Amino acid sequence: MTVEAGAGAHARIADADYAAAGATIAPDARAALADADIVLKVRGPGAAESALLKKGAVVAAMLAPHTEKAAIATLAGQGATAFAMEFLPRISRAQAMDVLSSQSNLAGYKAVIDAAATFGRAMPMMMTAAGTIAPARVLVMGVGVAGLQAIATAKRLGAIVSATDVRPATKEQVESLGGTFVAVMDEEFKNAQTAGGYAKEMSAEYQAKQAALIAETIKKQDIIITTALIPGRKAPVLVSEEMIKTMKPGSVIVDLAAEAGGNTPLTKSGEVVEVHGVTIMGYSNLPGRLAVDASSLYARNLFNFVSLLVDKKTGALAIDWNDEIVKGALVAKDGEVVHPAVKS
Ligand code: NAI
Repeated sequence: MTVEAGAGAHARIADADYAAAGATIAPDARAALADADIVLKVRGPGAAESALLKKGAVVAAMLAPHTEKAAIATLAGQGATAFAMEFLPRISRAQAMDVLSSQSNLAGYKAVIDAAATFGRAMPMMMTAAGTIAPARVLVMGVGVAGLQAIATAKRLGAIVSATDVRPATKEQVESLGGTFVAVMDEEFKNAQTAGGYAKEMSAEYQAKQAALIAETIKKQDIIITTALIPGRKAPVLVSEEMIKTMKPGSVIVDLAAEAGGNTPLTKSGEVVEVHGVTIMGYSNLPGRLAVDASSLYARNLFNFVSLLVDKKTGALAIDWNDEIVKGALVAKDGEVVHPAVKS
């Protein structure tokens, strides 16, 4: 077990802690990768690092498989067996390995905390001798794992919370957390979920109807958290510039889809900008702002995944290529890119 020096620095884990747990500390990537049969990383290796891999090494990381196709082709060219953790199937057996869930949950929480910290008013209603403060209104757009945690967090802070999603199943989830569901509920909406549980792209007609309803809702909001993603596609624009102009000065938008193009056209990935009096936060790695928890949950996800790849008794690699989880996450093997979504 080898750890590259400084790997845990941002998560407050010192090299000495890894050493105390039995790891060898390698001074740099070259030394860390030289003998490694299994390489675990947060994001995928760049070309220089890929070149240092042992032939046939197993690599598991968040490879951003929809966008980083060239990097995965490079990994394949090095003869690596590569797994994209984002591609794990959303089945119950894979839940303990599900990095999208573990990280999105933290992102949803942190988005609300960041918004509250920037917002120049309080979140809960406060009745004081000096007067009553109205509760903040929070709209959560996209009710996946991140959105659900954002709703729960905003509720805990005392805000009035509403939420919207194109998947009908989310209506009940929003209401069970004490939020109000906002959506045009026509036939298309009732069928808007794939068998895998992900969102489908909606028709232009539906998007227009929904946008009109949302436009009315947005005018009344103080804080908007957007989390809408469609796997493999650019994020849908849900909050137009016109809508942003209708928001009160001092309002805050946190756009969790910033890295996928943003749910507003004014989002700048990796930046916080103020436009028309509205602060738009486009942090590109929100879980990294809670690095200690993000790291410990991600480590547990990887541990559970690797446990599936090795023989429990000998510790040697013993990959069952027919396992649904292995097949789902495998993107490169025997010199080839093997996943259909990455090949094209
Ligand atoms: P995601 O990160 O892919 O997308 C976030 C949310 O945005 C989704 O709820 C999606 O429906 C919504 N969205 C997309 N386009 C939209 C639009 N135009 N307007 C409004 N909302 C829009 O979603 P996430 O968090 O990865 O969850 C995806 C699915 O996977 C969910 O059904 C979730 O319950 C399921 N899941 C299943 C797990 C399991 O092990 N069984 C584990 C984790 C998630």
